[in-house]
Amino acid sequence: MRPLIAGNWKMHGSLRASVALAESVRAGADDLAAELLVCPPFPYIQAVAMSLLGQPVAVGAQDCHPAVQGAHTGDVAAPMLRDCGATHVILGHSERRAGHGETDVVVKAKGAAAIAAGLTPVICVGETLAQREAGQAEAVVRAQVAGSLPDGFAEAGGIVAYEPVWAIGTGKTPTEADIAAIHAALRQAVGPDTRLLYGGSVKPANAAAILALPHVDGALVGGASLIAEDFLAIARAAG
Ligand code: 13P
Repeated sequence: MRPLIAGNWKMHGSLRASVALAESVRAGADDLAAELLVCPPFPYIQAVAMSLLGQPVAVGAQDCHPAVQGAHTGDVAAPMLRDCGATHVILGHSERRAGHGETDVVVKAKGAAAIAAGLTPVICVGETLAQREAGQAEAVVRAQVAGSLPDGFAEAGGIVAYEPVWAIGTGKTPTEADIAAIHAALRQAVGPDTRLLYGGSVKPANAAAILALPHVDGALVGGASLIAEDFLAIARAAG
């Protein structure tokens, strides 16, 4: 499976900085073994997609609403994202599960909307530190996968990202054995064809070791994706 290195830009940057970052990523994107995806904030998606038109860097969003359209003030529908040039959408990120009360049921509905709009969903799962310390990491992740993946997910090329909540933005990562164990469980749950990304403090220094683990088909990168050289170094580490 061709690895995918995805950048989640979260709520960072400006219009000018986002286009500049996209162009710097594009400049290093030729001849990589990995596919690249960047996910800017909503207002910058179209400009970034325009600057990457025809280039080997895909553009995604960080969320969508389950409805096609309607009276949902402040929300964005999946077809609107497609219209603006996005091909992917991150769903169920822990920052949305925790900060916006998104449940598995909501994430599943968003995933179905994404697929219906022709977007590839990147559905995030991951345990909290308390859950890991209680020995529940694998059970939590299995339950999230069972509850959050919509029908037709595998057929639509859906992607799952394992992001332990306690590893996000902290500089901490699980041991290689712990990542491998969760990814083996995920592989069993989703089947052979679904890409499994690891996310949580992926940096150029740890990327090669993480990306070499079995059933790790790429990375979902936060902080390091805001620096083109770091993001590209991670991509090169994918082989
Ligand atoms: P960091 O790479 O900053 O830890 O963020 C990971 C993440 O949340 C990507 O979605």
